[in-house]
Amino acid sequence: MSLAESWDRYAVGSKPRRAVNANGETTWLNWTQYADHGPNESVLGPVAGRRVLELGSGSGSNLAHLVTLGATGRGVDIAPARETVARECWGHLPGLEFRTAEATTFLSETDETFDVVLSIFGAVWFVGPDTLLSLIRSRMAPGGILAFSHLPPGSQGPKAAEAGLRHDRTPDEWKRILTGHGFSDVRVSLIEPPEGKAVGTMLVRALAT
Ligand SMILES: C[S@@+](CC[C@H](N)C(=O)[O-])C[C@H]1O[C@@H](n2cnc3c(N)ncnc32)[C@H](O)[C@@H]1O
Repeated sequence: MSLAESWDRYAVGSKPRRAVNANGETTWLNWTQYADHGPNESVLGPVAGRRVLELGSGSGSNLAHLVTLGATGRGVDIAPARETVARECWGHLPGLEFRTAEATTFLSETDETFDVVLSIFGAVWFVGPDTLLSLIRSRMAPGGILAFSHLPPGSQGPKAAEAGLRHDRTPDEWKRILTGHGFSDVRVSLIEPPEGKAVGTMLVRALAT
């Protein structure tokens, strides 16, 4: 089975996000694996007027939220089923486009540049950083923001991870790797889990130099 087929199979088993969150909002950004938990889009600074790329955009809900705040959004996901769902849910929003593509292939072929790149439990977690980060950096405007989240090293994860596809890194490793690929001001935080849960979330943010 190809990588795209395995992620398509994973997509079919994923539950759609609720239509409304605990605050009564119909769009929102969630960096963590828990509902109504963790920081919001303020991690990215103001997004109005900024060109945002999400790598591993899933059903598109996080990116759609940024577009409602005035960003333009490009969502890339390897699984065709994800593009179908994302278009069904968010295709009506102007300035938001989804594409089925593997992240490194998309970045190698596009001539677009982005002010913000995000990846929430997405491609940055599943593609070797030495390959992916240089490509991301090459498509980013200087001063742009890269932000991504994943489970802390040693945690359980989706099936693809158990097959050895995950790239968990410690905070020090991310600082070293990102700095080596043209990023600066690397900030790594561990978001504590909600009460009753054992596993937190690692959130990484860096600036394109
Ligand atoms: C765990 S899901 C997270 C989806 C979404 N970001 C969210 O928070 O709900 C990981 C997503 O990354 C996509 N993905 C994994 N590897 C990828 C790659 N190399 N290129 C593009 N997308 C990828 C998968 O198809 C899947 O939709």
